[in-house]
Amino acid sequence: MKKILITGACGQIGTELTQTLRRIYGVENVVATSVRSCSNHAVEEEGIFEQLNVTDKERMMELCKKYEIDTIMNLAALLSAVGEANPQLLWDVNMNGLYNCLEVARETGAMVFTPSSIAAFGPSTPADMTPQDTIQRPTTIYGVSKVAGELLCDYYFNKYGVDTRGVRFPGLISYSALPGGGTTDYAVHIYYEALKNKKFTCNLAADTYMDMMYMPDAIDSIIQICEADPSNLIHRNAFNITAMSFCPEDIKASIKKYIPEFEMDYAIDPIKQKIANSWPNSLDDSCARAEWGWNPKYDLDKMTVDMLEKLRIKLGIE
Ligand code: SER
Repeated sequence: MKKILITGACGQIGTELTQTLRRIYGVENVVATSVRSCSNHAVEEEGIFEQLNVTDKERMMELCKKYEIDTIMNLAALLSAVGEANPQLLWDVNMNGLYNCLEVARETGAMVFTPSSIAAFGPSTPADMTPQDTIQRPTTIYGVSKVAGELLCDYYFNKYGVDTRGVRFPGLISYSALPGGGTTDYAVHIYYEALKNKKFTCNLAADTYMDMMYMPDAIDSIIQICEADPSNLIHRNAFNITAMSFCPEDIKASIKKYIPEFEMDYAIDPIKQKIANSWPNSLDDSCARAEWGWNPKYDLDKMTVDMLEKLRIKLGIE
């Protein structure tokens, strides 16, 4: 990993990934790309920034050649809930974007990291301690694109030797950039509302368990899997990873430890609830731990303390 191109650099993951990679690998070795301008100006102004629509393969190739890219990190994607509102657009961006990354990598020899998700599982998957290798029959277009993406990455490795790597991310919680229309987003918005209004209306039912992770662990996982010795990788793509599993009542209890006045009520979003119900309650991430040393640092309370501290500064709340 000497010259890295990031797609979707202005998104929830891309924003923090770009800044961390610039620190570790050098500002001159990270090319942040996005279809449009960032709300976070650091991504655009503190290093190389280029406009790129991932569905435009010629432009992707031009940038990879111009900067002699050896690693493509493909973070450009629509999330699960917005995908249900526009399945055709999701397929175009998520699938053709990945296909273009793989095709460019096939021609240039670059490595490709692309995230899969807990959404790659469905209602017929074992819901508790979901194994690495199990039934994958998702019922969202986002999940369908993730399973197809996992298989396509395996195919490009087996057929063409493209060095593809990936993890299945759970819901990601962060304070820099907001998520763009997923089912797990409530676990981000709850912290903003806890600080701003001391109350939150949750759009998922009280006992909806899903896997979650704090962004610093997610960024570490990307770097670790990309730096991992390939001879140790039995699975290579789409590793189950998780840091915690909680439901809305658990995160409420965690926040109340630090903001005792915090209150939560419920107004269920039927589309998001159906999606959440189709995903696992908890993942078994033992393959990632065994094959490349996955070991997250943040549990729920440690994340809550850090989120509240960082958001207080961001929002200017005492
Ligand atoms: N966080 C994503 C979503 O909710 C899942 O990968 O859509």
